[in-house]
Amino acid sequence: MRHPRSVRDADVAGKRVLVRSDLNVPLEDGRVADDTRIRASLPTLELLLEREATEVVVCSHLGRPQGEDAALSMKPVETRLRELLPDERIRVLENTRFDPGETKNDPEFARRLADDLDLFVDDAFGSAHRAHASTVGVAELLPAYAGLLLEGELEELGKLLGEVERPFVLISGGAKVEDKLGVLDKLGGKADQVLVGGKMAEQIRDENPLTFAVELPTDVVAAAEFSEDAESKVVPYDELPDGWLGLDIGPETREAFARAIAGAKTVFWNGPMGVFEWPRFAEGTRAVAQAVAKAEAHTVVGGADSVRALTEMGLDDEVDWASTGGGASLELLEGKELPGVAAIPEA
Ligand code: 3PG
Repeated sequence: MRHPRSVRDADVAGKRVLVRSDLNVPLEDGRVADDTRIRASLPTLELLLEREATEVVVCSHLGRPQGEDAALSMKPVETRLRELLPDERIRVLENTRFDPGETKNDPEFARRLADDLDLFVDDAFGSAHRAHASTVGVAELLPAYAGLLLEGELEELGKLLGEVERPFVLISGGAKVEDKLGVLDKLGGKADQVLVGGKMAEQIRDENPLTFAVELPTDVVAAAEFSEDAESKVVPYDELPDGWLGLDIGPETREAFARAIAGAKTVFWNGPMGVFEWPRFAEGTRAVAQAVAKAEAHTVVGGADSVRALTEMGLDDEVDWASTGGGASLELLEGKELPGVAAIPEA
């Protein structure tokens, strides 16, 4: 695994530094609804300020705008960042994706970003799987270093790819098996137990593409239709009535999964156990989140939905590492090279 050179080893005093963070956060009514990614970006910014950088220019994308879009302006993000870190040396650029050159990794746009700056620090782990102007293009124009968050993510997620303490329990869920297959393939074979919930479990039960054993739910909370208020009942997994949907794992499965997690030394959880956005179908995801939070094991949670569930339940501080990367964490764990990391010279 690559070890890109670290911002800790950069001489930043008196320099003007461009920082690419991943500040792609959810907004609600023009305000930041979850500032986890903003808080996660602070240690690198603080380090640069402490080490007397003269200017710290922060850039990020926000959402997927098609051209300029006032609803996806970085202003609310900047407001929150300034509340958390009031320092006049910080400048926040507008959404990098307002420029069509960003996603095309256009050298001209990269040149404009890098203009007049001395150094580039990439701290945007969540965007490291994107070869864009602000993640890769600028790294070719300025001396590039990895930020502290990017380093932490590579180290923590990277540990799962090496030797881990056993028993190693992998919990996988979410809607689409295709999105998780790569990670399951890479880690599932070496895990001592693979617990599968969510819609993914249905897909695996119907047509198992995996070459190793997994534990599927034994019972589910079944709903008559895909609706928050649907008629629902707990049924054994193989007795799901025709046309009904399993929208959560049942109480027996919750207990079995929690027991397995309690006995683990290493845990990786990726993907919710049901439609946790609807309180009536959130109990399975809650049970797994609580078991992971309580476990004595080294616990790592990855993937946007499971981390969101953990954060909403106030348990994100109870795990050893909650990744800020969605797609990026999956690609890293699949063993893929991340372009944003490859663009930084090695230590
Ligand atoms: C994410 O939220 O996963 C990252 O910020 C990347 O966003 P993207 O999928 O729009 O590139």
